[in-house]
Amino acid sequence: MITLSDTAAGWARTLPEADLPAYLYDLAALRDHAATVRAALPEQVQLYYAAKANPEPRLLSALAGSVDGFEVSSGGELAHVAGAVPSHPLAFGGPGKTAAELRAALDHGVHRIHVESVGELRALGALTAQAAQPVDVLLRVNLPLDSRTLADSALAMGGRPTPFGLDPHDAAGLLAELAGGRYPGLRWRGVHAHLTSGLEAPELATIAAAVVRWATETADRHDVALTEVNIGGGMNVDYTAPERRFDWAAYGAALDDLVQATPELRLRIEPGRSLTAYCGWYATDVLDVKSSHGGEFAIVRGGTHHLRTPATKGHSQPCAVVPVDGWDQPWARPRAATTAVTVAGQLCTPKDQLAHNVSSDVLRAGDRIVFGLAGAYAWNISHHDFLMHPPPTFHFADDTGVSR
Ligand SMILES: Cc1ncc(COP(=O)(O)O)c(C=O)c1O
Repeated sequence: MITLSDTAAGWARTLPEADLPAYLYDLAALRDHAATVRAALPEQVQLYYAAKANPEPRLLSALAGSVDGFEVSSGGELAHVAGAVPSHPLAFGGPGKTAAELRAALDHGVHRIHVESVGELRALGALTAQAAQPVDVLLRVNLPLDSRTLADSALAMGGRPTPFGLDPHDAAGLLAELAGGRYPGLRWRGVHAHLTSGLEAPELATIAAAVVRWATETADRHDVALTEVNIGGGMNVDYTAPERRFDWAAYGAALDDLVQATPELRLRIEPGRSLTAYCGWYATDVLDVKSSHGGEFAIVRGGTHHLRTPATKGHSQPCAVVPVDGWDQPWARPRAATTAVTVAGQLCTPKDQLAHNVSSDVLRAGDRIVFGLAGAYAWNISHHDFLMHPPPTFHFADDTGVSR
């Protein structure tokens, strides 16, 4: 369960039924949260937002005052973010970049390109051979992680065999080529390593130190200047304890120790989920309540085709019930008899479950349910068209109130 913010509670109570299901993005809360994150980081650490977590233009604009730039991972994201928050630095990452995407990045003048493979460096080298100005690149490296860290992480993009980034051996080989002048159109600036998501501050700080150590030693071995290290995102959002937040103060202090030890180095982080998850709410209403073989189910309007996060992560999305009085049907109002209800959506698949063991004093057809932590990897990763139900409506809370 989750405690609704005043803004979310007021919105969910007064929202016209015709607007359900509905998303609320609390832009004022997002601005406050991003400012708190920024304030916890040392000056030498740049904060980028990984747009893949939620590229909604109004969220990008709300973040723009606190972040140093945006990380994009496709030509589509590049064009979208460049249009939504023009003149902000962009870092372009992601595996399988096409030649057209690389050309678009060069035309746009992105701040950094994160090179993911040997083939990608060759392609980029060829595209920039005649460039008037060298293009700044980071080599994305997949460094090993210990088995405990891998076990703790929610989503490991590195530390084990994956399609992401360069094997350390290949990365060192490419650095030798770059240092030897094989690519006159490219300038090596350092290393990128987004290895895993879902870790707490002490574990992420340990990884950051290991990445910086590897980058420094590898640069020294090739006698080239290392100027920056991007240590990625992956700060945990705890869906089992929605009021708890990643310990930015502890992480900032650990990064401060790192930058004090290497004052010439610029560090960069690119969180996604931990920036935008908290500002999003998804509200809907209960269409029916029924029991099946000893289990109880509340069927809501909408489902995982709007809010896919619980299906992808296999968790129960934190939620709260907003009771709605009044029932104008001639039959008895369906209501839950237990306090361990599964909240399911309208899709014809058993995977369409949003929350489990929902315990509420009252849960009836017609009541509303509001899901929190719905601002990241939620609407934008959902399979919207499956079963052709209508889309949700979208609402934005700002200091002046809520508007569509
Ligand atoms: C390269 C890269 N950077 C940053 C992120 C953001 O990760 P998170 O949303 O866990 O902070 C991701 C997520 O997949 C990523 O692939």
